[in-house]
Amino acid sequence: MNERKIAYILLPAFLGIFLLGGAFTVAPKQADPGPDPITRKVDSVLALMTLEEKIGQMTLYTTDWGSTGPVIRPGYADDIRSGHCGALFNSHTAAFTRGLQRIAVEESRLKIPLLFGFDVVHGYKTMFPIPLGEAASWDMEACEKSAEVAAAEAASAGLNWTFAPMVDLTRDPRWGRVMEGAGEDPYLGSRIARAKVIGFQGTSFDKGDRVLACVKHFAGYGAPIGGRDYNTVDMSEREFREVYLPPYKAGVEAGAWTVMAAFNDLDGVPSTGNSWLMKDILRGEWNFPGFVVTDYTGINEMVSHGIVANQKEAGELAVLAGVDMDMQSAAYQDHLKQSVEEGKVPEARIDEAVRAILRTKFLLGLFDDPYKFCNEEREQQVLLSAENQAVARDVARKSIVLLRNEGVLPLAKEIKTLAVIGPLADDQNNLIGAWSGAGEGRHCVSLLSGIRNKLGKGVNIIYAKGCEIEGEDQSGFAAALAAAQKADAVVLAIGEHKDMSGEATSRATIRIPGQQEELARQLMATGKPVAVVLMNGRPLVMPWLAENAPALLECWWLGTQAGNAIADVLFGDYNPSGKLPISFPRLEGQIPIFYSHKNTGRPFDLNSKWTSKYVDIPNSPQFPFGYGLSYTSFRYGKPQVDKTVFRRGQDVTLTVTVENTGRRAGEEVVQFYLRDLVGSVTRPVQELKGFQKIMLKPGERREIQFTLTENDLAFYTRTMQWAAETGSFDLMVGGSSDDVQSVRVTMIE
Ligand code: NOJ
Repeated sequence: MNERKIAYILLPAFLGIFLLGGAFTVAPKQADPGPDPITRKVDSVLALMTLEEKIGQMTLYTTDWGSTGPVIRPGYADDIRSGHCGALFNSHTAAFTRGLQRIAVEESRLKIPLLFGFDVVHGYKTMFPIPLGEAASWDMEACEKSAEVAAAEAASAGLNWTFAPMVDLTRDPRWGRVMEGAGEDPYLGSRIARAKVIGFQGTSFDKGDRVLACVKHFAGYGAPIGGRDYNTVDMSEREFREVYLPPYKAGVEAGAWTVMAAFNDLDGVPSTGNSWLMKDILRGEWNFPGFVVTDYTGINEMVSHGIVANQKEAGELAVLAGVDMDMQSAAYQDHLKQSVEEGKVPEARIDEAVRAILRTKFLLGLFDDPYKFCNEEREQQVLLSAENQAVARDVARKSIVLLRNEGVLPLAKEIKTLAVIGPLADDQNNLIGAWSGAGEGRHCVSLLSGIRNKLGKGVNIIYAKGCEIEGEDQSGFAAALAAAQKADAVVLAIGEHKDMSGEATSRATIRIPGQQEELARQLMATGKPVAVVLMNGRPLVMPWLAENAPALLECWWLGTQAGNAIADVLFGDYNPSGKLPISFPRLEGQIPIFYSHKNTGRPFDLNSKWTSKYVDIPNSPQFPFGYGLSYTSFRYGKPQVDKTVFRRGQDVTLTVTVENTGRRAGEEVVQFYLRDLVGSVTRPVQELKGFQKIMLKPGERREIQFTLTENDLAFYTRTMQWAAETGSFDLMVGGSSDDVQSVRVTMIE
């Protein structure tokens, strides 16, 4: 059957409804414009569907990756044909998705096209930095752009739905999925959530180069007890609403069409069956118009959670709580019809879920052209294009954070001999990081290649691996030390294996594994200038390196262009501008550690035993939130406000002058924090309320302004009202959470 025929099949149904509607229109024109065109189309399709077909639309299955490409599991093609499956994930490539779509639109009774989902988390083929790394850029244009490129690549390969952005805030670097989010702060996390959703979805799906975004994992998944993935989450509603919910809300407000329920239970109720989350908050308070999908087998897992006795009850709990689509549990497929027939689930609830799903298919334009995302020619042109590589390199270098520099960096390009050492120096496979979609290590520029690309033939580059990432073997040390002895400078690449972070990879110790730190010590003992390049998916505990490395660059997993981007920074073609989106602890015992803590009744005082502190280490982190160095220096003037006393509803403008006092052009992230001194409940000592990333030439000064509104002062008060309370506030501005100047203002009624 012709690809377009689907439109003709549905047309009589649409026409019937339109004509009927027209004949009985008696109300004055402007009184009720009636349903929008998509709603009318959705209703017309729904009217044709059997209960089984409706449940089929609520069913999402995965396909697998075989040795030659994606493969479909036995039985799924029949499920598509019989209308028992409305969406697939992990199916990708234009050709493969086209084949499956053909089954849906040519062989099923109603010819409803499939959705194709995929974890396009930080790139599809062209890989961008892991999200935690990209968050370090504090560059919203970069965050949006990388999502736009990822969407365009994915959309060319048959996909129309990404399971991203992951906006789970976390304050626990043991949690493996810390790599997949934006770090510890609700404000920064919300800004990034917004940028990602806009980047993925754009303003229209017409051109077929954008995909549906999915804000996940709703909610609180980043706060598992002990940092152990999938573990229970339990916290006060105030903390949950003020700290953890804002990034999901920002994603929804930015227009995300889908939301994924989290695996965790929250205050005793698994998210997948939590009507407070999905009905009251998501739909009630935030007016979310799209559909909610579970996480992988999330419905079945409610049996293990101990909240239901079997899969049938699990499906009932989920659907009644507001879950519209079942990922991989098959609980809806196997039991929901019976639940409806028994009166346990009203068919109206099924209709509501199916409407939301069909709406996205119409929005994507799949009913007009089901193959719109399966274009082999476009796939060839778009994937890994030179243009996309340029974006990837730019975003990667913006994500690098300079943690220490004792005058070692930038290195001179005219250097005679450079030793490039370490298990990650000549590595490609790790650079893509966890959750790397269809990304392949072979497309990545290793650090060694990036350095070779950068330096002229005259530079002698000696490479030595030194050791493996893990294990006790030091047999490679001798060659590494010999290389260092011959060199004028050493670049040492060490860190984690990419699979040490990501899903189900929580670590109790977050050190640099194996013999890598020992290798660093011995190399530094040679007296050569050593620049340590860290590649990792989470904050690491590295007290010795943090205090002794001549230079320390946090390079995360930077993706396809990693090596070129790092070389740009090492040799000064790009002046590092990243700032940490999460605190790096001194030792694991400090976790959870975050800048936005409360003061307590006994705030830290080194000279008093009876204060809130550790007896063995300081309270402060090794590297704080917002911290990052540059090859130039910035001087902040004293912040000024336009009024120190203001009335409720009035804005306050804070002005600060920032000057580049060094000899290189550079970017600075000017950060704006608030402290509410007295509240009806205790308030954090600092909360980020704004930031601006600015570029200054050497000697250039700029006045930066931040506007504080009444809403910036609001929080969940003693009675759980979202409101600002009168009183005094410290407004702080600076280049890191631990390096600010403040000015006090007072709000009166
Ligand atoms: C499980 C993960 O938690 C989720 O983030 C992902 O989207 C799904 N698997 C599908 O791959």
